Amino acid sequence: MHLLLLGATGLVGSHVLELALADPRITAVTAPTRRALAEHPRLTAPKIDFDNLPQDAEIWKADAVICALGTTLKVAGSRERFHRIDHDYTVEIARLAKAGGGRTFVLNSAKGADVKSLFFYSRVKGETEKDVVALGFERTVLVRPGLIDGPRTEPRPAEQMFGTLLRRLKPVLPRSLQANRPETIARVMLEQAFSAVPGVTVVTSDALV
Ligand SMILES: NC(=O)c1ccc[n+]([C@@H]2O[C@H](COP(=O)([O-])OP(=O)(O)OC[C@H]3O[C@@H](n4cnc5c(N)ncnc54)[C@H](OP(=O)(O)O)[C@@H]3O)[C@@H](O)[C@H]2O)c1
Repeated sequence: MHLLLLGATGLVGSHVLELALADPRITAVTAPTRRALAEHPRLTAPKIDFDNLPQDAEIWKADAVICALGTTLKVAGSRERFHRIDHDYTVEIARLAKAGGGRTFVLNSAKGADVKSLFFYSRVKGETEKDVVALGFERTVLVRPGLIDGPRTEPRPAEQMFGTLLRRLKPVLPRSLQANRPETIARVMLEQAFSAVPGVTVVTSDALV
């Protein structure tokens, strides 16, 4: 399988990349990024400008796509920029991948994703899911983690505090309220990329514990 991976430098995406490169079922990985990745014989990692996505079909040709691209409102700096990155980049890449013959799209979305949500973040995630599904891949998998709890290089104090709290409460919390580890999300997304079940599949946070 030829895998197209977006967000390969991120917390979840870097685990997907590691697992994919170690998986004998995967013959090639294309991971467009804005930062360099370590070289690997089965990895092609073109540095691209995400505001001007190359229309060159070769980059987007793959059997399956895993997308773990996204930012935070704080890093984005405005709602418009957040929407541009989390929604527009994702949907435009999905369109290019579909045109390139991609059959499966696995999207790292978020718990609570809903076009009608009261929360801007969840609305954008819901809109992204809806617009990716509308592209009509043979298989679309919407993976909806809760808080992603793992070591980050940049400080995210609120997430880190919440992560510590959820870890302490883990023995008494139902699975649906527990935090999700990036390596678990990555493993589930990669397995979903191989599944042959047609249509739309939703993976909720309790399946990512
Ligand atoms: N944090 C949470 O608790 C949480 C919970 C549920 C869902 N999610 C969602 O899960 C997904 C993966 O999360 P994560 O924690 O693995 O994310 P992350 O560590 O912040 O990584 C995000 C990835 O997106 C890329 N990216 C961000 N802004 C970009 C831009 N302007 N242009 C190009 N690439 C850009 C990053 O590239 P660079 O390395 O170049 O920045 C990185 O590869 C995201 O969509 C996130 O919204 C997060």
